Amino acid sequence: MYILGINAYHADAAAVLLCDGELVAALEEERFRRIKHWAGFPTLAIRRCLDIAGISGDAIDHVAVGRDPKANLMRKGLFTLRKRPALAHVLNRVRNARTIRGMSPLLCEALGVRPDAVPRVHHVEHHPAHLASAFFVSPFDSAAVAAIDAFGDFVSTSIASGEGNHIEVLQRTLFPHSLGVLYTAVTQYLGFTGFGDEFKVMGLAPYGKPRYVDQLRELVRLRNGGGFELALEHFVHWNSGVVMEWEDGYPALDPIFSPALEDLLGPARAAGAPLTTREEDIAHSLQVVYEECAFHVLNDLWERTRNENLCLAGGCAMNSVANGKIRANTPFRHVYIQPAAGDSGTALGAACHVWHETLGRPRSFVMEHAYWGTEYPTVSAETAGDLHVVDDDEWEYTTTSYRDEAELCRETARLIAAGEVVGWFQGRMEWGARALGNRSILADPRRADIRDMINLKIKFREKFRPFAPSVLEERLHDYFVEAAPDPFMQQVYPVRADKRAMLPAITHVDGSGRLQTVSAATNRRYYRLIREFEALTGVGVVLNTSFNENEPIVDTPKQALECFLRTHMDVIVINDTIVRRQSARQTAVLAV
Ligand SMILES: [Fe+2]
Repeated sequence: MYILGINAYHADAAAVLLCDGELVAALEEERFRRIKHWAGFPTLAIRRCLDIAGISGDAIDHVAVGRDPKANLMRKGLFTLRKRPALAHVLNRVRNARTIRGMSPLLCEALGVRPDAVPRVHHVEHHPAHLASAFFVSPFDSAAVAAIDAFGDFVSTSIASGEGNHIEVLQRTLFPHSLGVLYTAVTQYLGFTGFGDEFKVMGLAPYGKPRYVDQLRELVRLRNGGGFELALEHFVHWNSGVVMEWEDGYPALDPIFSPALEDLLGPARAAGAPLTTREEDIAHSLQVVYEECAFHVLNDLWERTRNENLCLAGGCAMNSVANGKIRANTPFRHVYIQPAAGDSGTALGAACHVWHETLGRPRSFVMEHAYWGTEYPTVSAETAGDLHVVDDDEWEYTTTSYRDEAELCRETARLIAAGEVVGWFQGRMEWGARALGNRSILADPRRADIRDMINLKIKFREKFRPFAPSVLEERLHDYFVEAAPDPFMQQVYPVRADKRAMLPAITHVDGSGRLQTVSAATNRRYYRLIREFEALTGVGVVLNTSFNENEPIVDTPKQALECFLRTHMDVIVINDTIVRRQSARQTAVLAV
């Protein structure tokens, strides 16, 4: 039985395919539209799901949508009566609900079926979809489950208990109170106005001091029983019609903080204005206050469930700094956060919800790796599209193909150890926001200069943002303190004090690193590459950043090659082929 899960008309549109409860494919639409966080209907992702499974649209038995506009209607009505939000806000929500419920023609088109042959469509409320995405693919038979985000279907936080194929919701926090809104409002105040910019504030936070913690605590009050309330006068999302639009698919959110926040903290930073210690201190303080709130919610969940296993989802579950502190600040011992913990994950959760909760089927699948996307196994650098890698006045290219994987990995490791920046394109694309060794740019973590070079020449992004390490799973404790294995790069842990000087390129300013553990079981070729790097250097870690240049992560070999050619990357490895770029001038000198 095939179940198609989708997240549509919401940021991070996505499609997921289950076959008899086993995951077949999971893809984010942004990779195909080439617009970050693309937020329309995921037609292309749906078609890729069908292609990967080798089926046609009429084979789909159920479609699960990770939104239910009919959910919590009574609550919405009461809120509208009590708080009287602006008419524009109400109309926008009504329009959005109509769009979600009227998606049938686009679904028929994506599936290639006639309107009378459209599969049964299930609307799964946003938060139950998040909870399902966290628990049903986890390795736990039984777990505490939490979803924390901005909002979806009028809910911002839900805690639950998962047992077998059922999730029991224990408590919910409703609109307008939301930890996601708290983080987003201060992110906007700090001048990071792009959708999804919260991770920039998380990267900035370690540079600052907690000087604004007292002020930021005024924005949110913790309540008994794991609850919290925003001090609404500092926000406008609840009363003045904040609208989320998606021009050409890119979601944009109006400001959600009110002038009262500027009264509290001073004038907001304009986007693009220089960053000062004030912004660093506010970012740091926000992270502190967010963590206090998140651990308040999670400790209450522990009290209710007394279960050592925790599954986490929702946009706030992408806060890898807070995630890495869960075991130190709560009694939870085992934490599972699947790679698409944000809203794309509701496509997965909706499908799992239908399989387990609606159809009552037992659990049989565990998501142990993130490689559920497209793959191009027969393409080499020479055949990657219309592009030809030809020498010019400035650059000279050498292309070598390897039949033997060990040799390919050995040579790539040698190039990384020699200080080259390597685009590494292999196997199936990652599900979720992070590149995990199949669409990655790799470099030597021992070189202090590599970070600035990648930031300035390839990624063209803010200098303060850190780069992440991929570490051999068996070497985890050689390099990190109190860390847990995480193949999805969802948790930040301290780098061991005696290793920080050795790993300057992946050690953040506060001595931490957002690590990915790599094992032969989850990614054999990437594991082999890091083993070869260790054999050469004695270090079982490489720097891993996503293969892109201010765009969604590359999907195809052609996009990877284009990215390689327009940036200052030194090497690209596409499947079994290595292409090196060297300065023609330098080569000429060497020849003389
Ligand atoms: Fe969400």
